Amino acid sequence: MRRRTLLQALVVTLGTALAGALGWLAALFGISSAQGRPSGSRKWVALCSLAEIPEKEPLARSFRFQRLEGWYWQEVTRQVYVGRDRQGAPVVFSRRCTHLGCPVHWSATSSTFRCRCHGGVFTQLGEVEGGPPPRALDRVRHRISGEVLEVEEA
Ligand code: FES
Repeated sequence: MRRRTLLQALVVTLGTALAGALGWLAALFGISSAQGRPSGSRKWVALCSLAEIPEKEPLARSFRFQRLEGWYWQEVTRQVYVGRDRQGAPVVFSRRCTHLGCPVHWSATSSTFRCRCHGGVFTQLGEVEGGPPPRALDRVRHRISGEVLEVEEA
């Protein structure tokens, strides 16, 4: 009888401790998540000045930002090309090939973006010109702030 009572007390104590630990973790996760960016808000990072964007060839650039992953902050680096559309407005392309994600490189001799993995070819405007990529290069949201081109952290 005494042994049974001792076991019951032990089970109740362990159950209470486990419930408390889970509650503490849930609260910690909730506080951590609340410190992240509110949904719907955007953060922008300066990429280059408008004067730096060449007329003819795209400019390779990268930018970094911190992103909340669960309960830790991760540094993210994005590789992009900055060019101009037919009207001369800035466009920003991801350097990830839309086939399987290999990096694309600008070829000055052919004036195309080329992917070395499977031979994907994109025009200067990011449209598919050849190879297996299923769609154009992804564009990165950007805006002009004064004389600076800014891109969205995403
Ligand atoms: S990953 Fe670029 S063509 Fe396959």
